[in-house]
Amino acid sequence: MVSGGLVLPWVLLLSVMDGGVSGCECPQATILAQFPSEAPPESCCLNYSGSTFGSVTWALFSNVTALEVLDLTDCNITHIQGAAALPAQLSELYLGRNALTALPERFLANAPGLRVLDLGGNFLERVPGDFLRSTSRLRELRLDSNRLSALPRGVFKPSLERLELSGNPWDCACPLVEELQGLGRRLGHRGNDSSWQGTVGNVTCASPVDLAGRSAWSVRTADVCQIPGLTVLFILLPLLLLLALALCWCCGRKRKRKEGSFRPAKWDPEPGAAGAHRNGSEHDRRQGHPNPARRAGRAAGTCS
Ligand SMILES: *[C@@H]1O[C@H](CO)[C@@H](O)[C@H](O)[C@H]1NC(C)=O
Ligand SMILES: *[C@@H]1O[C@H](CO)[C@@H](O)[C@H](O)[C@H]1NC(C)=O
Ligand SMILES: *[C@@H]1O[C@H](CO)[C@@H](O)[C@H](O)[C@H]1NC(C)=O
Ligand SMILES: *[C@@H]1O[C@H](CO)[C@@H](O)[C@H](O)[C@H]1NC(C)=O
Ligand SMILES: *[C@@H]1O[C@H](CO)[C@@H](O)[C@H](O)[C@H]1NC(C)=O
Repeated sequence: MVSGGLVLPWVLLLSVMDGGVSGCECPQATILAQFPSEAPPESCCLNYSGSTFGSVTWALFSNVTALEVLDLTDCNITHIQGAAALPAQLSELYLGRNALTALPERFLANAPGLRVLDLGGNFLERVPGDFLRSTSRLRELRLDSNRLSALPRGVFKPSLERLELSGNPWDCACPLVEELQGLGRRLGHRGNDSSWQGTVGNVTCASPVDLAGRSAWSVRTADVCQIPGLTVLFILLPLLLLLALALCWCCGRKRKRKEGSFRPAKWDPEPGAAGAHRNGSEHDRRQGHPNPARRAGRAAGTCS
């Protein structure tokens, strides 16, 4: 009796934590020859997998308020119109094996409930910067078999448990390698230390040239991320040296000016008279020659 009373809240809690799909039975696919003009408004799952759509008008799905799962796998989709926001309940979206070459600019920028997103097997070269910005519960993201070389940082969600990236010409530059290793550390901490590499798949570098063909896992952050630091150093170092030299020069002239008031100036008023000045300067000054120290002070006016 007591245990029964305890189990029920747990089951409720688990189903709440699992969210979305609980209780939604997905039907077999309804295969259509063209994009429908209306959708059954009460459905929790729409399965059009295998249809021939070409273009998809997202507004159609906005009206299906109970929608939790939308399967548009293998629908020959080349173009999506809209899709900044999803029906509030939608948690699984399948767009794999289509012919998408680009996504709308604000695609899924507002999709807080999304848990599973499949965009594998398309021709995507990039995903928008805003992509998944408001998504914090994403568990699974498939981007494999596209033409991606880089990803916006926002894609690497802390909530991710699975990220499919294989089959893309990755550019193994600092941002990607850093994000991947960060994701690896996070997933590794959750339990199995090495198996997370399997959940991300083969991330093979296509560029830079010296890393082509290598696995992104074998690239060390130190190798690709130090270069900008070194460049900055090489630009800054000569600047600092110049600054130091200028300071020394200024200070030197200042000191000379001070020394000049009670010591014969080492400054040579006439180039080429090097031999004469050591003996002659005391004499020259008494003779009313312009005080070399004062002239030096005027020349170095900016430093005093
Ligand atoms: C949609 O239908 C196809 C074929 O009938 C099936 O394989 C697939 O699992 C269904 N999608 C979902 C999300 O259940
Ligand atoms: C959404 O529903 C409203 C009212 O029910 C209707 O006027 C509108 O045409 C529908 N939009 C789409 C894209 O089906
Ligand atoms: C997919 O779309 C392309 C053009 O968008 C068309 O040429 C092709 O026949 C379509 N494929 C199928 C199986 O309908
Ligand atoms: C880690 O993952 C490997 C391969 O997926 C599996 O064989 C092993 O049992 C896992 N270890 C733990 C502690 O979960
Ligand atoms: C990764 O690459 C290895 C060897 O190239 C291959 O055997 C394996 O199936 C690949 N794994 C995935 C998930 O593509």
